[in-house]
Amino acid sequence: MGCHQNPSPAGHKRGLPGSEYASYDNCPTPLVRSSTARADATDAPERGGRRRHRQPVPAVVNNAETSSIAAPLNSVDLAPTGQHCPRNSLMFEHLDTAPPDAILGLNEAFRNDPNPDKINLSVGVYKDATGKTPVLDCVKAAERRLIEEEDTKGYLAIDGLPQFGQLTQQLLFGAEHELVTSGRTVSLQTPGGTGALRVAADFLRKKLPGATVWCSKPTWVNHPKIFEAADCQVETYDYIDAAGVGLDFEAMLSSLQQIRAGDVVLLHGCCHNPTGIDPTPEQWKKIGEVVRERSLLPLVDFAYQGFGESLDADVRGLHEICGQASEAIVCSSYSKNFGLYSERVGALSLIADEPAAAAAALSHAKVCVRTNYSNPPQHGAAIVATVLADPELRAQWEQELAVMRDRINSMRNRFVEGMRIASPDHDFSFIAAQRGMFSFSGLSPLQVDELRTKHSVYVVTAGGRINVAGITPENIDRLCAAIADVL
Ligand SMILES: Cc1ncc(COP(=O)(O)O)c(C=O)c1O
Repeated sequence: MGCHQNPSPAGHKRGLPGSEYASYDNCPTPLVRSSTARADATDAPERGGRRRHRQPVPAVVNNAETSSIAAPLNSVDLAPTGQHCPRNSLMFEHLDTAPPDAILGLNEAFRNDPNPDKINLSVGVYKDATGKTPVLDCVKAAERRLIEEEDTKGYLAIDGLPQFGQLTQQLLFGAEHELVTSGRTVSLQTPGGTGALRVAADFLRKKLPGATVWCSKPTWVNHPKIFEAADCQVETYDYIDAAGVGLDFEAMLSSLQQIRAGDVVLLHGCCHNPTGIDPTPEQWKKIGEVVRERSLLPLVDFAYQGFGESLDADVRGLHEICGQASEAIVCSSYSKNFGLYSERVGALSLIADEPAAAAAALSHAKVCVRTNYSNPPQHGAAIVATVLADPELRAQWEQELAVMRDRINSMRNRFVEGMRIASPDHDFSFIAAQRGMFSFSGLSPLQVDELRTKHSVYVVTAGGRINVAGITPENIDRLCAAIADVL
């Protein structure tokens, strides 16, 4: 597991003087010293009408959360080391290109591959049997309704549509659940699950400043990046077994037991990304016990409700964790189960031990939203609320969700069978036991490379992650033959 004895791993920036050095390469002067950096600092027009970048004046830092920062600099263009910065030169010219996103880079390579039989298993979206990411019929129906009925595009409240939070809680816990009826849970509509995670990260950094966020190893690649971007410290707990295809539950529990009380533990509610490996209900119970006994703050990322076994079965872990802990954070997403990827709709739910504490937590989360994107977009959330509130549309949604889930699970079984025939010496039966869109295939980086270069099959290098929803009746034979060839 990650090392708790080393609270400031190399490269971690939190709390250091000048910790907000941006990527202004070759320039050690902090670009921004606090959120009060002056907005007018870049406005001086340059010769020829171009605007010249001038460094924001470092503000005097005097709030409690940043009081460890060193005394303010006397001169705008002097770094703490006394080095001069090219304050009159263009800023963008000094930037090196940031590394591309690994998975989106693969997609780009896939698009440019001229092979007509290419197969893309690297993407993070559901595909139907024809390889398309469909718009659900219930979504289309809701949109038609909205076009007729919507009479304003005015701003939403900071926490979103009024009924959205309630409907989300009901979906997560059930309308009669104590967490919903007691008022101990508050929810904000967010731009996707990513938005929920980022608001949670900002909230934690501000209100629980010493805490470390513990992620499973491995986890969704964006998890550590989101929390680090908010200046949270991130560490990992053990999750996967040595073969890379199953849960090492003992190692996981032992990792969790060593986490410092009060730290945050990020758990995938179901359909673990990238492995597809979820704890059993009994294991969830034990995880809940450790979380409670160690006074950890659980943050459940719940991006795939309904993609595993069913809407109801997929909440077992969530209920176990939130039922045992007196406080919890849930980041949920409607990108996958409603196919609303581009509409950016998700939710942040905060669970407290009593309603007044939940209301206070909500007020702070709203400050994080207000200073980030101000308020969320309407359309996706209006679709979700319309569908969830209407019994007919809701039934239609559940049915369409079941079609997506069943297709993924049937492709899992067909893949296992296909590999049994194509490569009888290799056992891929673990793929059928995994859940959700993703699986760790166990393929090595070398094999992944060969799959791409020899067979135009695109798989994520780390763990050989495949998107099972990218497998279709049409490409499965070719896929199994290609994998058998590189084994
Ligand atoms: C585990 C996990 N959490 C959160 C998200 C974020 O989803 P969204 O697209 O709603 O931001 C994803 C998306 O791939 C995910 O896999």
